[in-house]
Amino acid sequence: MGAQGFSRRALLGGAGAGLAVGAIGGAVGGRAAASPGPAAAPGTGAAAVPFHGPRQAGIVEPAQARVHLAAFDLAPAAGREQLRTLLRIWSATAARLTRGEPADGHENQIALDAGPCSLTVTFGFGAALFDKAGLADRRPEALVPLPAFPGDALDPARGDGDLWLQIGADDALVAFHALRVLQRQAAGLAVPRWQMAGFGRTPGATARPTTGRNLMGQVDGTNNPKPDDPDFAAKVFATGPAWLAGGSYAVVRRIRMLLDDWENQPTDRQERVIGRRKTDGAPLSGGPGAGETTPVDLTATGPDGTLAIAPDAHVRVAAPASNGGAAMLRRGFSYQDGLLADGSPDAGLLFVAFQADPARGFVPVQRRLARGDGLSRFLRHEASGLYAVPPGAPEGGYVGQQLLEG
Ligand code: HEM
Repeated sequence: MGAQGFSRRALLGGAGAGLAVGAIGGAVGGRAAASPGPAAAPGTGAAAVPFHGPRQAGIVEPAQARVHLAAFDLAPAAGREQLRTLLRIWSATAARLTRGEPADGHENQIALDAGPCSLTVTFGFGAALFDKAGLADRRPEALVPLPAFPGDALDPARGDGDLWLQIGADDALVAFHALRVLQRQAAGLAVPRWQMAGFGRTPGATARPTTGRNLMGQVDGTNNPKPDDPDFAAKVFATGPAWLAGGSYAVVRRIRMLLDDWENQPTDRQERVIGRRKTDGAPLSGGPGAGETTPVDLTATGPDGTLAIAPDAHVRVAAPASNGGAAMLRRGFSYQDGLLADGSPDAGLLFVAFQADPARGFVPVQRRLARGDGLSRFLRHEASGLYAVPPGAPEGGYVGQQLLEG
């Protein structure tokens, strides 16, 4: 792994997703040259994640406080050359913005006073891109539409898309700045298809870094694969085809939570649905002394002889042990878009999961969850996408170069 890959990993600390990124001294280009003004506050503002490296940023780094997920379709007259132009522009811009420098074109000054705030921009390719760009023979076999799952209520207008962007930052203005600039730079080359905004914990909000909570109130992200696990790369990063080696597949699902129903459940019932305690995320199999990181024991029974973690508990049904070892790195964000016509909250989880192969990750797990998960009656899957996420670009290169020029 190169120096940049190492420095990104160094940001993670030991506990994987859920930790706040600290400032990294010396790694920040700063905006000073372009915009003399107050330096970004140390800590959150100055923290920078390098864009260049063997892997794209925004996969193993902790989820930031803000995210924009966006999909674009190639413009009707655009083909392979236009795609190449777009990816070059987007990569150059992402590299500048993640260093805290202004964009080369379409700079709107929305983030003028801020540091990079751990900005990451992650690019993915949808299945339909390959035919449109004359690359049908290079589409990975695994990049096919996800199967329909029982209970799906998907809106096609908010799913799929030729190109996918995940823009994360620890500041809302920095994140929106990047979205606007990248969207404007796409003019004539690609047209926006859908956009979703999400959020997570703000660094510094808790007394010490902890795993974040979702809008149901649960500690979420505990049993994710950890970058230090020996099989982490095998679970998360693709090995082929050659242009995708070292990349990944991202599954995106907009999952609305039926919060009125959920919040009407007593806490002990909510805990049985997940299989973990709500206060601290400890597994229900662990007894009173257990903590968040106590290993889950799916065989443990209570005093009455019944399973401590119910047969339909989310952590049982989703566990690799229940799904032939299927695993993924979940990196989701919460969303809230006001109220629906019936007065219920339009809020939930922008589920994002990275995996080496969706057929050994999301697909078997979701198949089982859709049928047997006690949590599913409180959820609606409303939008869906699958994207091949190419490896990172070296200095001077652009994301997707191996696909277009390899
Ligand atoms: C809004 C929807 C969802 C909510 C609120 C939710 C919540 C949770 C919570 C609280 C945990 C326990 C803590 C942890 O280990 O992270 C968990 C674990 C997990 N979830 Fe979900 N989840 C959701 C959807 C999904 C989906 C769609 C999948 C995949 C298809 C999934 C896969 C997993 C996996 C693999 C685990 C770890 C299980 C283990 O090995 O212990 N979840 N989820």
